[in-house]
Amino acid sequence: MPLVTTTEMFKKAYAGGYAIGAFNVNNMEIVQGITEAAKEVNAPLILQVSKGARAYANHTYLVKLVEAAVIECPNIPIALHLDHGPDFETCKSCIDGGFTSVMIDASSKPFAENIEITKKVVEYAHDHGVVVEAELGTLAGIEDDVKVSAEDSSYTRPEEVQEFVEKTGCDSLAIAIGTSHGAYKFKPGTKPQLRFDVLEEVEKRLPNFPIVLHGSSSVPQEFVEMINANGGNMPGAIGVPEDQLRKAASMAVCKINIDSDLRLAMTGTVRQFFAQHPDKFDPREYLKPARAAIKEMVKHKLINVLGCDGKA
Ligand code: G3H
Ligand code: 13P
Ligand code: ZN
Repeated sequence: MPLVTTTEMFKKAYAGGYAIGAFNVNNMEIVQGITEAAKEVNAPLILQVSKGARAYANHTYLVKLVEAAVIECPNIPIALHLDHGPDFETCKSCIDGGFTSVMIDASSKPFAENIEITKKVVEYAHDHGVVVEAELGTLAGIEDDVKVSAEDSSYTRPEEVQEFVEKTGCDSLAIAIGTSHGAYKFKPGTKPQLRFDVLEEVEKRLPNFPIVLHGSSSVPQEFVEMINANGGNMPGAIGVPEDQLRKAASMAVCKINIDSDLRLAMTGTVRQFFAQHPDKFDPREYLKPARAAIKEMVKHKLINVLGCDGKA
């Protein structure tokens, strides 16, 4: 089947109490690791591309890699999504350039301005059969060139969500309930805890509406240890507990964004490979175990964390 939008997958995910995995792609091995996992598990998939990914790999290469995955996985629905679209022009370029879904992230702007920009993107996207994710609330962490400190982050205000969705016409909404971007989400020694009360309030005000969680890597300690044991230095890297993601997926959350875990799996495996084989220099040899590690990690996420039912 051709690339799809997220409309049908979100409907099924909402009804089924699971979430669709949205994984960031930057190169061929990442695309292959993710899609081979989803194919085996029979899970629908969102492959997402950031502004940084487009700058690194080039729009056309990424679209063609994803189109190759669609050919290789004819039985699972795959959406191609722009992650954290910073402005109308970037969203337009992706809508015109083969994406089926875009995010406009104007969450750092005042409420009225966020509505105005989001509405403009929604109008253009819907005219072209593309769906739109928007964001209310601010996550901590680094995304592209924007760094938000924990002090400057803010939870989504449930009393704003209805007006925002009605006025913009967006198709899904990313909210801030305590997740954050990157590998350092919680201070060591503190108890990681998402604000399920905020999610519940949002759900009440937007019944049956798909909610998105960014910053949802769980930072598997096996990979952090693998990195640190092989020349890396990532002390205190902590992610979102998987049981809390599972709970969110059983509620209104239909899309869970994972990028850092892919990077950790790849980096840990490559570091270990070089520590064990200092004489090797063939990229195929060190990228092969990295791709396999991504595949295993994604399979685990799809089944045990997102709760995919295998009925893609
Ligand atoms: O939320 C941000 C994603 O992890 C993408 O990261 O901007 O470094 O590609 P990036
Ligand atoms: P992580 O950094 O937790 O993987 O979040 C990724 C993300 O939200 C991409 O938009
Ligand atoms: Zn994000």
